[in-house]
Amino acid sequence: MTESTRYRCQVVADPAALAEVAAERVVTLAAAACADHDRFYIALAGGSTPRALYARLAEADIAARIDWSRWQVFFGDERCVPPDDAQSNYHMAREALLAHVPIAPAKVHRIEAELDDPAAAAARYARELEHLPRDVDGWPRFDLVLLGMGDDGHTASLFPDTAILGEHTLPVAAVYVEKLAAWRISLTLPVLDAAANVLLLVAGSAKRAVLHEVMQAPAPLAQYPVSWLMPRPGLEWLVDTAAAADLDPGLG
Ligand code: 6PG
Repeated sequence: MTESTRYRCQVVADPAALAEVAAERVVTLAAAACADHDRFYIALAGGSTPRALYARLAEADIAARIDWSRWQVFFGDERCVPPDDAQSNYHMAREALLAHVPIAPAKVHRIEAELDDPAAAAARYARELEHLPRDVDGWPRFDLVLLGMGDDGHTASLFPDTAILGEHTLPVAAVYVEKLAAWRISLTLPVLDAAANVLLLVAGSAKRAVLHEVMQAPAPLAQYPVSWLMPRPGLEWLVDTAAAADLDPGLG
């Protein structure tokens, strides 16, 4: 792991290598959490980069190294669609991982974003987070939050110029994303910053320009929500060479 101006960032060859390195990190972090408090509280992300990690975790050689019985699975964000909709992050995670490993359904806490109005769905999920331990400020504390980054610098469903970026009271909020003409439910920044570990997975040349700006900037760039995440030892970026093409050669 090497240091950018503000973040811990590791550059790996390609999406397959990124899934491999990320899977090893998940195995290590899960074992450490279970050794510490006999549970592993994880929040899954949507997107193709996280999906490749889920598929790797489901493969026998990695899956055999994980005590799935200790996992409590949550989601960092969700689209307001039914759980069997192709757009659903839960649907993606179930197809890529959850249907292939021995996690009891009661330990998978999906965001029921389709059940009623988005604000009510967000409030319901905030109650679901009451299962989690708390950090010193009383925020739900995940052992690991997995995140991706869009080519506009969004992460989870924290999109540029949306009100949810200013949400510092609620752990979960609904957000209407103009460019998608769609509602989303998302963990808010305080919960992302409260997590013991955050693994931010970024792959592909489409992310190249934004990643360069975010990584090399001496201070947060307000137009990119991912740069609002607090730089800290628990925040690890894993990026592939295509996304890192404009970063200083010293990275990775
Ligand atoms: C979502 C995700 C989103 C995703 C990024 C990266 O619901 O869309 O939570 O934040 O992680 O858009 O997605 P890719 O890895 O597919 O680029």
